[in-house]
Amino acid sequence: MKLGFKILAIESSCDETSCAVVVDGRVCLSNIVSSQIDIHTRFGGVVPEVASRNHITAIDNVVALALEKAGCTFKDIDAIAVTYGAGLIGSLIVGVSYAKALSYALDIPLIAVNHIYGHIAGNYLSFPDLNPPFVCLLVSGGHTAIIEVKDFNHHSIIGNTLDDAAGESFDKVARVLGLGYPGGPKVDALAEKGKNYIEFTKPNHELGYNFSFSGKKTAIINYVHKLEQTGKPVPKEDICYSFSKSTVDELVEKTIRAAKNLGYKKVVLAGGVSANKRLRAQLTSVANENGIECFIPKMEYCTDNAAMIGSAGYFAYISGVGIADMTLAPKPNLSL
Ligand code: KG4
Ligand code: ZN
Repeated sequence: MKLGFKILAIESSCDETSCAVVVDGRVCLSNIVSSQIDIHTRFGGVVPEVASRNHITAIDNVVALALEKAGCTFKDIDAIAVTYGAGLIGSLIVGVSYAKALSYALDIPLIAVNHIYGHIAGNYLSFPDLNPPFVCLLVSGGHTAIIEVKDFNHHSIIGNTLDDAAGESFDKVARVLGLGYPGGPKVDALAEKGKNYIEFTKPNHELGYNFSFSGKKTAIINYVHKLEQTGKPVPKEDICYSFSKSTVDELVEKTIRAAKNLGYKKVVLAGGVSANKRLRAQLTSVANENGIECFIPKMEYCTDNAAMIGSAGYFAYISGVGIADMTLAPKPNLSL
């Protein structure tokens, strides 16, 4: 494998249209992200049909900008990587079709990347010397899992959510409090101002390494509705603080327990919720207290972006996995 292998990566699984140029899986030359947040905010969440139409409008410019920022032309690109699942079917079709067309026209390899592997790889860009094995806490809008990452292409799930994902529950709490979409960053910001802890649910010790967030979400919704019905003020800051604290406490405790029990000395955070301030700080400090090294991705690699897909694509390609052809089809329900 030659050094300086340049991958042009495309990510369009949800409401971000993104293109990046990544060298040898570790160096990001450009990472253009065109967000549709403003478009979906008025609907209170992502509208799939609207998202796919906007990907079509954005993708040409996003790819052109990524090449320009990287100082490249198509001739410099050695392979195309693309997210083929999991995600919204219409959104995935846009990225996958575009990537297939580029691969065919340029006559270079096409690499199919699982979005979740991409989130983990955001750490290989953030920490050029980081290699598996490690335990990863993956927390995004669609997933919450503790994953044993044995090597770049072998992962096994040791804990999962039984209902809502962590990001999804942040978004739902934000919605009931009228904070808007996406809710995670808004709950995160308000939580910093909260002082009084409200216990919405007690920890369930029977879950092992698994998670369940829907009971807490329902308790919060009922609490808020009761206050509203009786005309009492809703303590939004305390609710955000209590929800964030109990959620982060549980995520961190289970991740560190898993790492200790399985004998790992490294823990890695990944996914959109890894932008959460409390989670970043608490995982770092509890890991350190337990003699475990902790890796927190740079903010630009937390939420959806194509650079992480370029990195994951590289490590798949050099191991001979993920190599696709013109039959590649999006897989909306792709699992790990
Ligand atoms: O990984 P991601 O960009 O998309 C998926 O693959 O799902 O994650 C998006 C999720 C959303 O639910 C969003 O509210 C949440 O990540 N999120 C946060 C924060 N920033 C983004 N949740 C809590 N605190 C944040 N600062
Ligand atoms: Zn994601």
